[in-house]
Amino acid sequence: MVTFFIKTYGCLANVADSEGLARYLIDLGCAQVSQASEADLIMVNTCAIRDKAESKLYSYLGQFAPLKKQKPYIKIGIIGCVASYRKKELYQSFDHLSFVYGARDEMPVLQSYLVDAIEKIAVLKQLFFQDPDGDLGGKNGQDRDVKELVAKRNISKFLGGSPRGNALEEFLMEAVPSSTSPEKEQSLNISEYNLKKHIQDGMKKAQNNASPEVKRSYINIMTGCNKYCSYCIVPFTRGREISYPMKDIISAVIKDIEMGSREVTLIGQNVNSYIDPETEARFPELLKQVAQIPGEFWIRFISPHPQDMTHDLFDVMAQYRPKITAALHFPLQSGSNRILQLMNRNYTSQEFLEKIGWIREKLPGAAISTDIIVGFPGETEAEFLETMAVVEQVRFDLIYPFIYSSRPNTKASLIADNCLLVEKTRRLEFLRKRQIEIAVQCNSAHIGKNLKVLVEKRLARGKLLSRTEGNLRVLVDGSDDLIGQFVTVHIKETGPANMIGILVS
Ligand code: SAH
Ligand code: SF4
Ligand code: F3S
Repeated sequence: MVTFFIKTYGCLANVADSEGLARYLIDLGCAQVSQASEADLIMVNTCAIRDKAESKLYSYLGQFAPLKKQKPYIKIGIIGCVASYRKKELYQSFDHLSFVYGARDEMPVLQSYLVDAIEKIAVLKQLFFQDPDGDLGGKNGQDRDVKELVAKRNISKFLGGSPRGNALEEFLMEAVPSSTSPEKEQSLNISEYNLKKHIQDGMKKAQNNASPEVKRSYINIMTGCNKYCSYCIVPFTRGREISYPMKDIISAVIKDIEMGSREVTLIGQNVNSYIDPETEARFPELLKQVAQIPGEFWIRFISPHPQDMTHDLFDVMAQYRPKITAALHFPLQSGSNRILQLMNRNYTSQEFLEKIGWIREKLPGAAISTDIIVGFPGETEAEFLETMAVVEQVRFDLIYPFIYSSRPNTKASLIADNCLLVEKTRRLEFLRKRQIEIAVQCNSAHIGKNLKVLVEKRLARGKLLSRTEGNLRVLVDGSDDLIGQFVTVHIKETGPANMIGILVS
């Protein structure tokens, strides 16, 4: 059996893509493992949003070179947003890579590549384990080594050259006795036996180590982005917007709910510009349809764009609350109109605040989170303070603050930037510190209240982690069978990141 490991960086769109690929590989008969060192197929799903995300990737990739030397039959591949635009550089920098396929457009190509790849891995793995010290032993840790061996042993007909099917099957039958009965198992040669045990043990270990966790589903409803914010690389890595058919999304949600999912997150770079390619229904209609699916579960979505926020969206959210959770990620980016215009965000801070007013009116008590970029090229101290003024006015429950990072291909990368990194860092810290104070105050308003939460998992510290409708963290004592349940907790204490609750029901 071919084992695989997927490391995922980046946003929930990548998480959903990785989960889809994992399901695809499992359907092809592969087994997922929790350690790269145990995998025959390693895929790294990458993010290009900021320079830091990319640098992390390069150091992470380096560690796989020795693995490829040790086990030359394995395949290591890069997928996702960095793969979309740095294919050549990735191949040039890392000899041990077998494939690089970008996000979205290259997904179907990747899927058909994987069908072939796992067959090749299966055959080469058998050869390797029959003769671990033989000439399959890697020299340079590159696929080229294996190709040489294949030529030498004249087995290329089994590796893609000839029609697959019978020939490959015969070859595998030769390599592995067909029965897996215990007596026959003893007759396997020792390396095959070890290989089987190694995989079974690895799977058992992964199962034992996996502590129970609530089932959640992440569903991509659209991909790509047409907004072209001047700082953002996403339109270049994921391409232009495409929405998936509503009927497919609804079937996917129904399937996941039947499988025990308690929370569904609808994902898109720009969820609220969703438009059903078949009926032209918009995002509020999709939300309504999802909310009408029977079952007790919560619905979330990420990320909406403030420009496309319409009254009917909040009306649907109010109508189906709390099944559609009153939690909104509402990315501000900047409070300065000059910077917002340079960012190509298509709203002013006044328009942003007006929409916050709609949320407060139609969804009282809704949790609102946001993204803010500090140090956009040319941002002055006064403009940064305009952002802080919006922060003070809205009092977000959560802020994801970022220092501006120049990205290739983007318009903003051409704007002169005379603001020093140390100044940008100071602005970031200032914003962070103030946000912690605001979060402490927002959270403390919940003391003494009874809140409905969904219990997620047990933390290392022993408490259960649960989340409110607004996605706020509540720690609570209780047994493992509460995991995946909706319960009511009484809030006793609060801090900046967590609240402490006592189980009521
Ligand atoms: N589509 C979403 C955001 C996707 S990227 C939206 O428009 O809201 C997530 C966040 O990363 C963005 O909201 C932005 O705050 C941040 N980001 C994107 N590009 C960036 C860059 N070049 N430098 C710093 N932060 C960036
Ligand atoms: Fe990037 Fe803007 Fe599109 Fe969000 S809306 S993905 S920030 S271009
Ligand atoms: Fe990163 Fe691509 Fe998402 S760049 S944030 S993984 S769309």
